[in-house]
This record gives sequence, structure tokens and C-alpha cells, in this order.
Amino acid sequence: MRRPLVAGNWKMHGSCTSIKQLLSELVDERLPENVEVAVFPGLVHLQTVIAQLADSSIAVGAQDCAVQLEEGALTGETSALQLKDIECSMVLVGHSERRQLQEETDSVICRKFSAAQAAGLIPVLCVGETLAEREAGNAVAVVQRQVDAVLVELGVESLVHAVVAYEPVWAIGTGLTATPEQAQEIHAQIREHVAKYSAEVAKELRILYGGSVKAANAAELFAQADIDGGLVGGASLNAKEFSAICRAAG
Ligand code: G3P
Repeated sequence: MRRPLVAGNWKMHGSCTSIKQLLSELVDERLPENVEVAVFPGLVHLQTVIAQLADSSIAVGAQDCAVQLEEGALTGETSALQLKDIECSMVLVGHSERRQLQEETDSVICRKFSAAQAAGLIPVLCVGETLAEREAGNAVAVVQRQVDAVLVELGVESLVHAVVAYEPVWAIGTGLTATPEQAQEIHAQIREHVAKYSAEVAKELRILYGGSVKAANAAELFAQADIDGGLVGGASLNAKEFSAICRAAG
């Protein structure tokens, strides 16, 4: 049985004051015990958030990591080992905003995925098509290519200690959420594709949906057979909204 996961990607949001307030509100919210909850702060706030959540069940992840595992002369980079050292447990890799703005390729994303696992972190592999790719009928092919960048290179077993997040680019930050049917179609395709390599890995793989998840639409999305939770952006910055989304996954 896959345990649902709801993760909040705070992106480049928050100050010391606002994050302290958000977390103090979040820990007072009723969170379902059968749902894994995680937050992904910006790097500058990571240790503070880890410390403030030390007595809670909420996991803390990073939004990125370096390709290189070992520390070294890499200005501005943070290695997966350094993230593990501060008790980070997960890391996003391949988020569409980094694919677009940092021009991260499938190859770089695969190497980051590998570095994360080598450090003992759970990588959350983000995949998703642009509106143009969807309108051209290429959504499934694009997502399959992005999954294969890890699956073929590292092998299907690499997905055992990993999560996949399907985030249609056209739904991120736009308020234009994929319909439950649209999301389920892609999630099912991802699971079927992984099942070609291992039925067991496919069965256990958690596939999250991300892209304008709100309290109002979460239950219908999470009710889909192959949607195992959400990767939430804007709505995760509000404790009441985010906790309502977590409860919808329970
Ligand atoms: O990583 C989650 C994020 O990309 C979704 O953002 O604001 O559409 O929930 P948002």
C-alpha cells in the first residue's frame, strides 16, 4: 500500500519571520497520521526549518542539489551529502522551473538524482510537459522521456527509494489545474511504463501531482487511483490551506 505524500514546495518565498510564523501555525494544524507531510524551504532557511520541525513528523526537503556528491570548489552549489548532514531527507530534482531557468538537461537531472540517492536522500523526480507539448499530443512521450532519463540510466530499482512528481508546466502557478482525468491519465502511463521494467517497483512507486493544487480540488485529484499525493506550491505557504490539502490525501 502506497502511503500518500503531500509536499510543500516553498520555492523562493519566505523570510525568517514569515517562515517561523508559517511553521508555528502548521504544527498546530491537525495533520492525518496516514499521510506523509514534507516541506521544501529555500536553502537559506533549511536548517532553521529543520530545527523548528525537530519535534514534528513533518519531513524537510531541499529544492535542489549539486551534481557532484563530494564537497569541492563549486561556488554556490550544495552537495547532497551536505543536505544529509543537516538532516534533510528529500530533494527535488528536475523541477520544471529549473529545467527552464537553469537549463537543466535530463542528463544533469539524472546525475543529481543519483547523487541524492548516494547521499541517502529521497529524490523527488519532477516531470511534466509544456502546453505546446500537450497541444501537439506529446505529453505522454515527453513525460516518458523524462522518466527514462533516470530509469534507463540508473535502472528501475533506483525508483524504489524515490518519488515521481508529475507537474504539467501549464498548470504550475497558473491556477489552471489539470483535471483529475488528465492527471490520472499521465500518472497511469508513468506507472504502466515503469511496470514494463518491474511490476513490483511500479506498484510501490509514489507518483504525486503538482500544478495549482488547492484545498478545493485536492480531494478529487487524490481520489484518482494513480495519484499518491501532491507537490504543492503557492497553497503550501498558507498553513490552513496546506493542512486541508494534507487531510484530503488521508
Ligand atoms: O513544485 C510544486 C509547484 O511547481 C506547483 O506550484 O503554485 O501551481 O501549486 P503551484
